[in-house]
Amino acid sequence: MKSFYTVKFLPENKEIRVVEGTSLLFAAIKAGITINTPCGGKGICGKCRALVTPAPLPTPQEKKILSEEEIGKGWRLSCQHQVNANLNVEIPSSSRYFRQAILTKIQGGKISLSPPVKRVSFPIPSLSLGERSIGEKVLPPQLAIDLYSLRHLAQSFKKGRAFASVINAHQVLEVNQESRLFGIAFDIGTTTVVGYLVNLETGEMLDVHAITNPQVIYGDDVISRIEYASREDGLKNLSQAILAGVNTIIKELCKKNHLSPEEKKFLR
Ligand code: FES
Repeated sequence: MKSFYTVKFLPENKEIRVVEGTSLLFAAIKAGITINTPCGGKGICGKCRALVTPAPLPTPQEKKILSEEEIGKGWRLSCQHQVNANLNVEIPSSSRYFRQAILTKIQGGKISLSPPVKRVSFPIPSLSLGERSIGEKVLPPQLAIDLYSLRHLAQSFKKGRAFASVINAHQVLEVNQESRLFGIAFDIGTTTVVGYLVNLETGEMLDVHAITNPQVIYGDDVISRIEYASREDGLKNLSQAILAGVNTIIKELCKKNHLSPEEKKFLR
């Protein structure tokens, strides 16, 4: 069974718990600190150095990049170590990746949209007692509907009108009179990822949220990341990092704009 260790990052004094074997780079990300990785973690640029206490044994690569004096003081390369003990790790500003200024203000106004998700209204059918196939009677034959939505469709008749949100005209996503429709457009750049929250019915741009592209820990530039992608698990790690980033933006935009989990389902 794997052990868990505490890593305290300085000067923030931020403590996190990680499972043994977690790379120092990941531990830092978990603590909200992004470290410079111009060489993509190959241990050749020396830009990710950190002061580690107690200092682990230096790797052969560190002996090539760091001076004896630095090694003696406890300087190590973050990309070369996994956490196998409780540690204090000081990350100097020269090893930090500082987020560049990102445009996060909405320009306002509306954009013209042709979203695949739209809301349509179906008339209330006249149903006789014992009629079994409500969906067939109400919905066009090309529309698929799951059991959950079908039940809501029947319930909504009682309220007067039925609204069905439809994707690509083939699938009913939800039947709900109160639902609003939102979408998020992502701009995924090498350095930053930006999400724009849009009202899909009016085209109004409602909010924007930006983060540093989490793939930055695998290299600051595209070439380093392409090289990293060819390593074992490289592609998997890169996709997991960007998915985590996109999910962070979705959560943040939903939280800031008081969107319900039901509405989130339209953001997939
Ligand atoms: S030495 Fe380049 S990222 Fe660690």
